[in-house]
Amino acid sequence: MTNLPHRPRRLRATPATRRLVRETHTVASQLVLPMFVAEGIDEPRPISSMPGVVQHTRESAKKAYREAAELGLGGVMLFGVPEHKDATGSGALRPDGILNLAIADARAEVGDDLLVMSDLCLDEFTDHGHCGVLDGQGRVDNDATLAVYAQMGLAQAQAGAHWVGPSGMMDGQVGVVRSALDAAGHDDVAIIAYTAKYASAFYGPFREAVDSSLQGDRRTYQQDPANAREAMRELELDLVEGADVVMVKPALGYLDLVAKVRERTDVPVAAYNVSGEYAMVEAAAAQGWIDRDRAIEETVTSIRRAGADIVLTYWAAELASRLR
Ligand code: PBG
Repeated sequence: MTNLPHRPRRLRATPATRRLVRETHTVASQLVLPMFVAEGIDEPRPISSMPGVVQHTRESAKKAYREAAELGLGGVMLFGVPEHKDATGSGALRPDGILNLAIADARAEVGDDLLVMSDLCLDEFTDHGHCGVLDGQGRVDNDATLAVYAQMGLAQAQAGAHWVGPSGMMDGQVGVVRSALDAAGHDDVAIIAYTAKYASAFYGPFREAVDSSLQGDRRTYQQDPANAREAMRELELDLVEGADVVMVKPALGYLDLVAKVRERTDVPVAAYNVSGEYAMVEAAAAQGWIDRDRAIEETVTSIRRAGADIVLTYWAAELASRLR
């Protein structure tokens, strides 16, 4: 026999050995389920590019909130799909807007058993599909949008959101939302900041999920996929502005940033396993080209291994029931 002092294979020999030396574990409480709640539909509506994910009615969503709580998930991240969109996204501010109603429904169903988080962004509510309001030249107006985000954050806190998630990549968004919440006595509402959010092709199916017809692209506010240092700058700013949790999005192509953000800060780090990442696995699995269950587990394990404390994934409920 060859004299080899080191044989790493010894620690891979049996399932029991592998279990013992496993470095990364995922538990249900680290998973957050993104959900779409639509106005003006009678039945849950399938999203064709995201097999297994639906636009919920308010009623079907209530059942899903209860199930998420029973499964021990960390939370739900709610997105509203309004029936009517307009230039300023006014449906985001009204207490009877679909997202604010969904937040209130969720709190009524689960109380504090499950964290109710809400997307704080205008793209689901605007007819042009941008994350902010436009100026006279059709550009996304940063500071005018901040004023709307402050109002939107308040509406979500009043509806009962535990955490709000500013995701529009406007400069100063975390700070204005924090100030508005504090001024209104909502100092207990936390901010999960979309800190490093990239202008990504992997949000494709999300557009169908929220009935968005985006005109143009988001490159004047979301980050260039080529840039990593820029994300560190965004991180510093979000922390100074008062972010409680910071997020990297998408996840799979950006695991280097998950790891870097994890190293640089001591606040919890979240990563968003986005719609296109979901769709790729589902589509390949449907063709029989990959083992679906293993691919899902490997995906989420890899995001955790890179350093994410919290993973937002459309597979959250399924994974949690498997982990039981
Ligand atoms: C913005 C928002 C988007 C996603 C989450 N929040 C779309 C975008 O920024 O273009 C995408 C999530 C996904 O693709 O799963 N409201």
